Amino acid sequence: IDISNLRSLTGGISTLDSGFKNTGSCESAITFLDGEKGILRYRGYSIEELAEKADFLEVAFLLIFGELPTKEQRDKFHADIKAQSVVDEDIKRILEAFPKSAHPMGVLSSLTSALTAFNPSSVNVNSEEDMYKAIVKIMGKFPVLVAWTHRRKQGLPLDYGDKNLGYVENVLKMMFRQPNEEYIQNKVLVDALDKLLILHADHEQNCSTSTVRIVGSSHAGLFASISAGISALWGPLHGGANQAVLEMLEAIKIDGGDTKKYMAKAKDKDDPFRLMGFGHRVYKNFDPRARIIKKAADEVLEDLGIEDPILDIAKGLEQEALKDSYFVDRKLYPNVDFYSGIIYRGMGIPTDMFTVMFALGRLPGWIAQWKEMRLNKEPIGRPRQLYVGATKRTFVEIDKR
Ligand code: ACO
Repeated sequence: IDISNLRSLTGGISTLDSGFKNTGSCESAITFLDGEKGILRYRGYSIEELAEKADFLEVAFLLIFGELPTKEQRDKFHADIKAQSVVDEDIKRILEAFPKSAHPMGVLSSLTSALTAFNPSSVNVNSEEDMYKAIVKIMGKFPVLVAWTHRRKQGLPLDYGDKNLGYVENVLKMMFRQPNEEYIQNKVLVDALDKLLILHADHEQNCSTSTVRIVGSSHAGLFASISAGISALWGPLHGGANQAVLEMLEAIKIDGGDTKKYMAKAKDKDDPFRLMGFGHRVYKNFDPRARIIKKAADEVLEDLGIEDPILDIAKGLEQEALKDSYFVDRKLYPNVDFYSGIIYRGMGIPTDMFTVMFALGRLPGWIAQWKEMRLNKEPIGRPRQLYVGATKRTFVEIDKR
């Protein structure tokens, strides 16, 4: 059957699948995910191997262009990104107009959208050169927006990065450099952030990526589509979970560390509380990223000499959930964000910046998916609905209602 005719053949609705639990929206050659077996691969390479052996820029290149870069390709990609690591000075004025209390995800989404004003020409997707330019532009400018969002909240001057540094080193320096102080790189932090960004770089058709693709399917530009993706990522059921996990762990700590009480709340159907960082739409087995992150969290905190009681609470919750029939029966395991916040906290990143760090990692995935969608000439995304409203009604004049 030609699926495009299904609607007329059935005389009405084709399928109703709330939350798209069983609906594929596209064909994609970027990320393979087997939720039952807990397998995640980017372009065929296992996430475990990439996290151990590759760096974030290599992974970004792999996702966007389909192959691991040669040394020359990687160096050129990095040089081209560095050449774009400035933003129009007017962006500063826009940023400064936000109240300091603004949530960094709202600010980041707005600033990314504002980039369209300073880069108005649309990308000719049939020109490889044009496409490449847009890609290195957003890869270069986005870390500046991330760092500035943080610096503005901290009351630090807004300045640019250091062109002699690696991509991730530069992000850290741009975020944390203090005026009139030499910034000393900490290799443990650089490696940990590199790994976190790789683990977050793509995850097939999740909420924010689907948003990027659907916005882009109307032929809206790359920056506008990514700005929409940032808004989708913000929510606590998606990327915002990393902030929500830390807030939950802190609340449990303040409440005396009674993990059993919170387990009971999570299981109580009359209580809206959910164990944040647990469960996943696709993984019905351990999230492979969570395994890697858990190990990294232990290493980073040990290397930095941090003893964090929050980590003990997290481990306690995990142990209890793994033997609790409510969680076992529903296949609710810790997801990537259960441990990422603990590492970010160890790195000195404020809680409300956690989801911004996720966005920084997800950027190459969004770019790759947007590019694939356009090159595949996908039609505009336009789902239908099952209408359940009133049947035909006769209009009543306002004075007769
Ligand atoms: N705590 C307690 N119960 C849960 C949790 C949780 N974290 N997650 C799911 N459940 C329960 C539901 O109440 C439901 O129970 P029921 O069958 O008795 O009604 C069952 O498990 C299935 O849950 P759904 O919400 O139907 O599953 P869905 O696939 O729609 O949601 C989601 C997945 C949003 C991730 C969910 O598990 C959740 O809210 N988790 C907490 C938030 C979170 O960590 N999000 C980050 C996801 S990873 C990411 O985006 C990077």
